Amino acid sequence: MAETFYITTPIYYVNARPHLGHAYTTIVADVARRFHDMRGAKTFFLTGTDEHGDKIIRAARRENLSPRTYVDEISSLFRNLWPELNIKHDHFVRTTDPSHIAVVEQVLQKIYDSGDIHFSEYEGKYCFGCERFYADRELVDGKCPDHETEPETIKEANYFFRMSRYQDWLIEHIHANPDFIRPERYKNEVLAFLREPLEDLCISRPKTRLRWGITLPFDEEYVTYVWFDALLNYVSALEYPDGDRFKKLWPHVQHVVAKDILKPHGIYWPIMLKAAGIPVYQHLNVHGYWNVEQSKMSKSLGNVVEPLQLKNVYGLDAFRFFLMREMSFGLDSTFSEDALVQRINSDLANDLGNLFSRVLAMAHKYFKGVVPETDPDIEEEVRFGLKSHALKAIAEFERTMVVFAFNKTVAAVWEFINEMNKYIDVTAPWELAKQKSCRKQLQAVIYNLLDGLRIISGLIYPFMPDTACTMQKHLGRDPEEPFYLLDSLKSWNMTQRGTVLPKSIALFPRIDREKMAAESSTAKSGGQGGTAGSRLSPPLKPEIDIETLAKVDIRVGTVVKATVIPRAKKLLKLEVDIGETRTIVAGIAGSYAPEDMTGKPVIVVANLKPAKIMGVLSNGMLLAALEKHGCNVATVDKDVKPGTPLS
Ligand code: MSP
Repeated sequence: MAETFYITTPIYYVNARPHLGHAYTTIVADVARRFHDMRGAKTFFLTGTDEHGDKIIRAARRENLSPRTYVDEISSLFRNLWPELNIKHDHFVRTTDPSHIAVVEQVLQKIYDSGDIHFSEYEGKYCFGCERFYADRELVDGKCPDHETEPETIKEANYFFRMSRYQDWLIEHIHANPDFIRPERYKNEVLAFLREPLEDLCISRPKTRLRWGITLPFDEEYVTYVWFDALLNYVSALEYPDGDRFKKLWPHVQHVVAKDILKPHGIYWPIMLKAAGIPVYQHLNVHGYWNVEQSKMSKSLGNVVEPLQLKNVYGLDAFRFFLMREMSFGLDSTFSEDALVQRINSDLANDLGNLFSRVLAMAHKYFKGVVPETDPDIEEEVRFGLKSHALKAIAEFERTMVVFAFNKTVAAVWEFINEMNKYIDVTAPWELAKQKSCRKQLQAVIYNLLDGLRIISGLIYPFMPDTACTMQKHLGRDPEEPFYLLDSLKSWNMTQRGTVLPKSIALFPRIDREKMAAESSTAKSGGQGGTAGSRLSPPLKPEIDIETLAKVDIRVGTVVKATVIPRAKKLLKLEVDIGETRTIVAGIAGSYAPEDMTGKPVIVVANLKPAKIMGVLSNGMLLAALEKHGCNVATVDKDVKPGTPLS
């Protein structure tokens, strides 16, 4: 019988737009799911949004919207983002779904009836950001470690979940199932929490303080604490308790979360499940944070990385690949565009891209683009261990994917790619082609290389599904067929002889940093479509409201001075009068000489955060129309005083 694999992401709060961190977790789940598809398992992937609680109400108020309108809007930002990142979830759950609410009520009633919930008065330190009480020992210098704010002391009568009853059971369960929480460092962290006595969990909020939540089924005056509500999404989405999905999928569930929500998932959730008589999950897979310039990504620090912008500039597969390659699952990583570009140029354009185009070019040159017939003995003779390198990579692929060690998986696949590149150097097909007597050897070498590429396309499938399909198409195979099944990757000689191969393409064009800096300094238009390097017919960007537009300060300016920047062929350094003099670096040197620019009226975005471009601090951005062969600087058609705003 086929195995089953059920994977979940956290359901994301709708108090902020999706960013790189959310995208990472959701791509991880997608990669893991695709891997289990490769094994022939029946898979199910759940994600969604967490929509109740103080945080959300406050965010809705800030936007002057009703909670309902607000949650609908932000939830759809998440829902619409995932297909853009080629994420194939099966269900999108919202905590405002009536079916979810019904399950929360049912589970609460069940636990209440069994005597694990009691009512009492409590005074404690409450962090509104985290929506929970903190014990003194959990605070850092008296402050919430996440929000770095002092919690407020509040006193309330509330309902409490007797977690302490299950503390010993949980400790035993973790010891008996060493990979229940993984990687190990997080298991140890949970065990360390459990060394202290567990306090009962406050699971209600009085309606006098908060109305945006699920009413307790046993007390009309209270709503449910968001975590008790949110965690139940993992079962409500499967139509707990009687749904077919629940019965089939739940025994195989694995969660993916980051370390910020280890405690609710490592402690509250298994205890809630136990108390409700539901079997606990198989694995909790915990990853670290993506930081930017050494600090956590946050709206207030203004360092939030937008996944769509990166996808649009660098291409989706390159972006997915980078996230999986760069982060060691469980540890923190620092995001930088420099590192992304380096990976694209070395791993994708050089190693994989070159291998692919070299092999296909040789198949076209020596065999007119038809997969050659081979003599089995000769083929074996010139294989030089290529098959065992492939099998080694596949074994490592399986071993590491199961435990979410994606960076190791990618490293193993790249080892095979390097072996393929070495194989070309060792067999030197161009030398074989010179001698008529070596025709059979040449056929076998090219055949082996094409078959090796088939295996590589399968192994990169979970990370870069589009590229895998493109490779398949150019290997003359139907990308609609499930080419990625592990069983078929383990067999050699699966490439059909006589297949006609389409012309080769460059899988990953190299990224020219200087050109990109030039382009983004003239028009930082994150919305271009297509892969890196292709900037034709960009799709229109998503709609914005008038308030967002009003934040952009656009001024008329006059260029006072223009000079070239040494070693930067495409850049000019401009001194522009916009009522004050600004230095602006613009990527227009391909179309304008310095003397063309002096005295010219230009249009400037004046409040763009300054950025260093080729060593010069650019304080503003020049607007220009970018075309394939050059650019056209935007200007005004009558005399306008420098500094005049555009509206
Ligand atoms: N709503 C809760 C989860 C309830 S699950 C029953 C919540 N939401 S959240 O919007 O704050 O999402 C937190 C999750 O987003 C993290 O656990 C992680 O999956 C992802 N990330 C958010 N920021 C991140 C980074 N900077 N780096 C990596 N992942 C991050 O908590």
